[in-house]
Amino acid sequence: MRNLNEDNITQAVLARLVDMPDNRLKTIVVNLIQHLHAFARETKLTEEEWKQGIDFLTATGHKCTDTRQEFILLSDTIGLSQLVVAQNHQRSSNATEQTVFGPFHVPNSPLLPPRGADITNGAPGDPCFISARVMTTNGEPLPGAEVDVWQADSEGYYDVQDTQWSSDNMSLRARFITDESGTLSIRTVNPKNYPIPTDGTVGQMLEAMHRHPMRPAHIHFMVKKPGYDTLITHIFSDGDPYLDSDTVFGVRSNCIGRFLKHPAGKAPDGTKMEVPFHTITCDLVLEPVVES
Ligand code: BEZ
Ligand code: FE
Repeated sequence: MRNLNEDNITQAVLARLVDMPDNRLKTIVVNLIQHLHAFARETKLTEEEWKQGIDFLTATGHKCTDTRQEFILLSDTIGLSQLVVAQNHQRSSNATEQTVFGPFHVPNSPLLPPRGADITNGAPGDPCFISARVMTTNGEPLPGAEVDVWQADSEGYYDVQDTQWSSDNMSLRARFITDESGTLSIRTVNPKNYPIPTDGTVGQMLEAMHRHPMRPAHIHFMVKKPGYDTLITHIFSDGDPYLDSDTVFGVRSNCIGRFLKHPAGKAPDGTKMEVPFHTITCDLVLEPVVES
C-alpha cells in the first residue's frame, strides 16, 4: 500500500499482522497499535511531542540497572501495575488482597526459623515485632507456606539501594516456612513512609504532574503454597498520612494493620526492651486456586 494518510494508516499496519501465528500476541499487538494510533489522533500529537516521548522512554531505559528498574517504577506510578494485578487476582471477600510487587524484592533471601528470628541486621529504626498467621479463607492455619518478607529501613531505604550492598549481607528481608500453627513471629524495625526513587525519569514525571513520590509505611509479604494463588501483598501502617495518596496506588483496606506502640518493657519474644517498641499482628489469608 502506498500514499497512506492519517485516516487509513492504522488499517494498513493491522493488515500486516494477519499472518501472526501466536493469537494471544496478535491480540496484544493489534490492541496496542490501535490504542497508540487513537491516542496520537485524539491528542493531535506533534512531532516535537513524539520526540519528547521517545527521549523520555530512552532515558527511562538508560536509568535501568541490575538493581534499578525504572520501567516498573513508571508502570507503578501511572497505575498500570496495580490495574494488571487487580484484574488477575480477584479475591474472596476474606482473602488478603494482592498488591503491586515493587522493584525491591530480592530472590533467595536468608531462610530463617519462623519463631523469634531478627531480620534487622543493623538497619536503623525503632524495634517492631511482627506476629503473622498464614491461613485459608476458612480460618485454618496453613503449615509449610513460604513467607518472604522485605521492607525499607526507618530512613526509607532498602538494603539493595546501598551502593555497597552485597547478596551475602542482606537486611530487613528473609524467608520463613510456616510450622503446624501457620504462624510467624519476627523482629524487625518499625516501617516509615518513604519516597520512591526520584532521581530518574519517574521523578521528573511526578514533578511535571505536581504529585508527591510518597508511599505509606509498609512491610512487603509474598506467600507461596501449592494449591493457593501466590499472595503478594503489603501490610500498611494505619494512620499513615499517605494511605489515600500512595504514589503507586497500592493500598487496599484489608491490608492496613495496627502498629501498636509500647513503652520499654517486655517484648512479645520475652526480650526486655530498654526502648519503646511496636507490635503488629496480621493475618495473611490465601485464595485457593480453582482448577478450570
Ligand atoms: C515498594 O514499596 O517497594 C515500591 C513499590 C512500587 C514502586 C516503588 C517502590
Ligand atoms: Fe516498599
